[in-house]
Amino acid sequence: MQETNYEGLEASLYDLIWQDEYDDEAFYSWLLSEKNGKILEVACGTGRILIPLLQRNWDIQGLDASETMLNLCKKTALAKGLNPLLHHQKMEEMSLPEKYDSIFLPGFSFQLLTLRDQADQALQHFRNHLNKDGQLIISTFVPWDFLQNAEGENIWRLRKETLRPKDNTQILCHEALATARQEQLLTVWNRYEVISSEGKLLETELRRMIIRWYFQNEFLLLLEKAGFKNIETFGDFSSDPAGEEHSLITYRATL
Ligand SMILES: C[S@@+](CC[C@H](N)C(=O)[O-])C[C@H]1O[C@@H](n2cnc3c(N)ncnc32)[C@H](O)[C@@H]1O
Repeated sequence: MQETNYEGLEASLYDLIWQDEYDDEAFYSWLLSEKNGKILEVACGTGRILIPLLQRNWDIQGLDASETMLNLCKKTALAKGLNPLLHHQKMEEMSLPEKYDSIFLPGFSFQLLTLRDQADQALQHFRNHLNKDGQLIISTFVPWDFLQNAEGENIWRLRKETLRPKDNTQILCHEALATARQEQLLTVWNRYEVISSEGKLLETELRRMIIRWYFQNEFLLLLEKAGFKNIETFGDFSSDPAGEEHSLITYRATL
């Protein structure tokens, strides 16, 4: 078992497994289009959001801690005639030569920072890399369904099953979840499997990912402590302010 680092099968199968998981591109486009200028997608991964925005000629760069994810992003972009500027850095240590009008983090990547210091450091770096009128956009989720039905803890379930077109193999992703409620940590075990058309297991990989969840007030306080102002919330990738019915909360703030 390996900790999540977005290498190996976790990286190479990312698009196949997660590409259609969230319908969030239009939402980010809307928020970003309210502020023209230079954009940085932090934890851009394989470019799920970055590449469609580049295709519209938006001035956008990416940053990610995984070289493999960045290489996959580059490869997809080059195939579409695009050549994005991508930075191989950790968000909690990032240091780039320029500032941005928007910094945004889709895919709940901020929650992969499980230590409080890391979260504080990342927010300070985002501040330091924003232009005076810039905006920070961070999406988070609270695993409400799972918290309300704890019976499902530590039980393996099939999360995704799909065919890989390039070699016609079957791709499976099983997951098991557990929570530490006082610490607000969700542990997700993902087991990836590549199976041949004859049913032979060709490759498998077990990953453990730990995700910190934040309740709304807590995240507002965190942003305020980091010096952000004019904080708005959006629920479930809509223009509605986050409310009781939402488990996906996006925060937008300025300096
Ligand atoms: C769930 S993926 C999201 C990718 C993309 N934003 C999307 O929505 O499809 C999480 C990404 O965060 C990156 N990541 C994890 N920890 C990071 C860190 N400390 N700094 C920068 N990137 C990180 C991973 O390498 C991975 O590409």
